[in-house]
Amino acid sequence: MIRFVPTNRLEPGDIVARPIFGANGAVLLRPGAVLSAFEIRRLAALGFPGVYVRDPDSPVTDVPDVISDATRAAAINRLWHTFRDLEQGNRIHCAPLFDSIDEMLSDILSEPDVVVNLGDLRTHDGYTFGHSVNVAAMSLLIGHDLGLSIKELRTLGVGALLHDIGKIAIPPETLRQRGPLTSEQWQMIRQHPRMGFDILRRYYEFSLAIAHIAYQHHERLDGSGYPRGLTGDSIHRYARIVAVVDIYDAMRSERVYRPAVPVHEVLEEIRKGAGEKFAPEVVNRLLRRVAPYPVGTTVLLTTGEVGVVIEVPAEQRDRPVVRVLLNPSGRPVKGQLLRQLAKEEDVGIERVG
Ligand SMILES: [Fe+2]
Repeated sequence: MIRFVPTNRLEPGDIVARPIFGANGAVLLRPGAVLSAFEIRRLAALGFPGVYVRDPDSPVTDVPDVISDATRAAAINRLWHTFRDLEQGNRIHCAPLFDSIDEMLSDILSEPDVVVNLGDLRTHDGYTFGHSVNVAAMSLLIGHDLGLSIKELRTLGVGALLHDIGKIAIPPETLRQRGPLTSEQWQMIRQHPRMGFDILRRYYEFSLAIAHIAYQHHERLDGSGYPRGLTGDSIHRYARIVAVVDIYDAMRSERVYRPAVPVHEVLEEIRKGAGEKFAPEVVNRLLRRVAPYPVGTTVLLTTGEVGVVIEVPAEQRDRPVVRVLLNPSGRPVKGQLLRQLAKEEDVGIERVG
């Protein structure tokens, strides 16, 4: 049984239930580790939003992930090396990046019906790496659902993994800045897709499509994107996938300047942009894959009861199974009371939190 606890509410003695990765993909804390006051302070200092801990009273048994912890850690580590190589003026090692995409593909193909339930628990500093790995995994999932071949998926996956590589040219202080950006800083950020393209096209191992994913991932169908303001079909179809997944994962993440947006609100926002900014076929696939109320979410039901989502049915992702913890008058419910929203049509979710 596991429970997500925000870092400021962790207590010494809490036992880690899911591994915690550092910015380079190394495991900082393994499952089973007992947290000390020192480690909790360190997690807070590193900017971790929270930790999955063991909790015998929690109704949540496990939170499935799209890719395995090992695949995720290796991919983050390879990206970290890639950025470091570039910073030091060395050539990128391309083969390990394709290896990571192959590992992600085999994870995804072995669990083809996986529901997207959680992001990773990244720090602010490790943002680009954790984010890029999420974007690659989700792009592969959507590309798979759109019927791309394995060869096409490998291209899409590597492009998605490296979509933000042009950020190497942006000073880290700018990326981490809390306040509004100056117009020069904003100009520099708008150039990262082109920078990425210029880097990637120098490698014969990377096809032009991979470089174009980096170049076009901030373009929008209506021409409101950057850097070139491309419209509609002139945006590469792989870039149209990565654009949607990128915005989804960015909104889902906690940032220095704002907390994470709840999943159902992110999906609503993306749904509103379908056809105008985002490719509708991509948005449809995303909506079919992602649980709007992921496992572990606390919800207030229209009955006035408060509970926790413990399961998300594959057929009706917006109608989860909720274990009721408090009755409408706020008293704890004794025993196992489940609301299966897929079967109880008159019960809905009033709000999250
Ligand atoms: Fe970007």
